[in-house]
Amino acid sequence: MKKIIAMILAGTMALSMMACAAPAAAPAAEPAAEAAPAAEETAEEAPEASGFTTVADGVLTMGTNAYFPPYEYYEGEEIVGIDAEIAAAVAEKLGLTLKIEDMEFDSIIIAVQTGKVDMGLAGMTVTEERKENVNFSDTYATGVQVVIVKEDSDIASVDDLADKMIGVQLGTTGDIYCTGDFGEDHVDKYNKGNDAVMALVSGKVDAVVIDNEPAKSYVAANEGLKILETEYVTEEYAAAINKDNTALLDAINGALAELKADGTLDAIIGKYISAE
Ligand code: ARG
Repeated sequence: MKKIIAMILAGTMALSMMACAAPAAAPAAEPAAEAAPAAEETAEEAPEASGFTTVADGVLTMGTNAYFPPYEYYEGEEIVGIDAEIAAAVAEKLGLTLKIEDMEFDSIIIAVQTGKVDMGLAGMTVTEERKENVNFSDTYATGVQVVIVKEDSDIASVDDLADKMIGVQLGTTGDIYCTGDFGEDHVDKYNKGNDAVMALVSGKVDAVVIDNEPAKSYVAANEGLKILETEYVTEEYAAAINKDNTALLDAINGALAELKADGTLDAIIGKYISAE
């Protein structure tokens, strides 16, 4: 399966690289990059190290799955949340305008690989397997996989999940861990985290494994649910970037470092997550 995807990607990537071979000058970071003479020589070569290219000139296109509060969710028509604000701050540092594209969580890495988006930012956990397909930026937040159950459930810890039905969001680390630990037959996969929680409410599954912050908002929004105290797995979130675009990776890391140093990152996270 992985091989097939890799082959398809190799093909589409060659195409998309040809399509974006003309260097979009990196506005703020590298004003001198404009006069990149090497570009017309070989259309298939990766962008030169001095500047980064983006899918659309002057735009930082972010792929996300906007059903993951408080990292990304809809407020009316607008996608807001920690990731949306961090991305806007990064884009500003790079002299770009931010464009957010909402998609299935499962499609984000492929969108990064095939050059549909510049960066996946979706409370996405850094994993060794994903690293085979994308580069990850420096991490900007920590997540914990937790278990949501009904208040009167007999499930008291992760170990009690063995014979149960577990709801997860398709393609997330919750899905990967539960499928690995308890087997496909015990895992019900939903496109949105909220759909998994609805399945728990209606009794179709016995538990939901999901990241702690969205878990808190789902429990707050639905009566009769609780989060188990035992945590399942602790993880780090980072932005996913196309492996060929190391110049963009460097630029994003540079922007993130500045936002960390000047307190912007903490302020954004603090706005959505109250310290316990
Ligand atoms: N942290 C988990 C993962 O990387 C879940 C992320 C889900 N994010 C989302 N925007 N729906 O697999």
